[in-house]
Amino acid sequence: MADNKTKTSLFDFFLLSMFLVGLCLAPVPSSAQGQKLSFGLNGQFKILQVADMHYANGASTWCKDVRLSQLFQCSDLNTTAFMTRVIALEKPDLIVFTGDNIYGYDVKDAVKSMDAAFAPAIASKIPWVAVLGNHDQESKLTRQELMNYIVKLPNTFSQVNPPEAAHYIDGFGNYNLEIHGVAESSLQEKSLLNLYFLDSGDYSSVPSIKGYDWIKTSQQLWYNQTSKRLQREYNEEPSPQQGTAPGLAYFHIPLPEFANFDTKSATKGVRQEATGSAKINSGFFTTLVARGDVKSVFVGHDHVNDFCGELQGVNLCYGGGFGYHAYGKTGWARRARIVVADLNKKGTGSWGDIKSIQTWKRLDDEQLSVIDAQMLWTNSPSRSGV
Ligand SMILES: *[C@@H]1O[C@H](CO)[C@@H](O)[C@H](O)[C@H]1NC(C)=O
Ligand SMILES: *[C@@H]1O[C@H](CO)[C@@H](O)[C@H](O)[C@H]1NC(C)=O
Repeated sequence: MADNKTKTSLFDFFLLSMFLVGLCLAPVPSSAQGQKLSFGLNGQFKILQVADMHYANGASTWCKDVRLSQLFQCSDLNTTAFMTRVIALEKPDLIVFTGDNIYGYDVKDAVKSMDAAFAPAIASKIPWVAVLGNHDQESKLTRQELMNYIVKLPNTFSQVNPPEAAHYIDGFGNYNLEIHGVAESSLQEKSLLNLYFLDSGDYSSVPSIKGYDWIKTSQQLWYNQTSKRLQREYNEEPSPQQGTAPGLAYFHIPLPEFANFDTKSATKGVRQEATGSAKINSGFFTTLVARGDVKSVFVGHDHVNDFCGELQGVNLCYGGGFGYHAYGKTGWARRARIVVADLNKKGTGSWGDIKSIQTWKRLDDEQLSVIDAQMLWTNSPSRSGV
């Protein structure tokens, strides 16, 4: 018996050792789902938006709208290099790809193209998410297959669809992310910033309505319910907060309301082409205003528009084209949009709710120049000198 017992405990010890060794050797979890995003110890959360990479096959892909002198030394690898540089400089907390990540029509292998397109984000180990544009599905994979693949890539928080709405929601790539208060602070379990990602589709499937697709009623219903739940959780114990936590929405195709602005009426940035929205207005802007939590909407799709304009308290912002295989404007640098949310520091020195949300763009020039820095939203009336 005694002998047996020793054997057992030796065996147990062996198992435990193997288990511990296994833990140490275990690869970084390949899926980020179930993990939590939080504000940093500096009270900040920074988001990098990458709009319209239009990635194809890497080194053999030619660049659109670059100077003739640059044409022969330009490919998708320039898109990759730009992303690597802007990530290294800005060190965002989250990278958001707002669709047309790959330009399906020219892609030989959608999986390889996506792997290459997202590679700098994956290599950075920074959490990232993606939604689809109208071009991603133009090679062999359907929109559902594309999202199914994306959600399995390392460090992504992307979802195919929210479990509670998967049975009724239109599209693939609708989900939300909750950005919690600073770790070890009283708000570490509260979502202080709510991010919504939506599938704005590709083309209208209604024969009498030509053109681009739109955000459907089912998606707006899910947004409404999610926004209401988040507000309830924001207001309830522990550490109940007043009002609603601000939200940001990211998708590909602009809402018809983006057409309200030209370069003059925009707050910052330019319009250089028409807004390529759906021909009908499905009412998502009205839904957002009615709920009141989303302070800014970020889209891509129209590569040479990069403005933000404010309508009924909501900023409508373009990312500006990022990729070199996407059409652009010769001499007008490819660009990326950065958004930063800052928390209020309370008298006690601990971090509170959101103080402000700001944005700027980075150009793909030698210095990665910053342009068009602007305030998108402030929580408190500005107290000058404080
Ligand atoms: C693309 O990258 C190559 C290699 O770094 C560089 O020489 C070229 O100028 C870049 N092209 C553009 C349009 O930025
Ligand atoms: C969403 O909620 C708003 C106000 O709470 C309401 O006006 C709108 O009809 C709702 N939309 C949908 C699709 O449920």
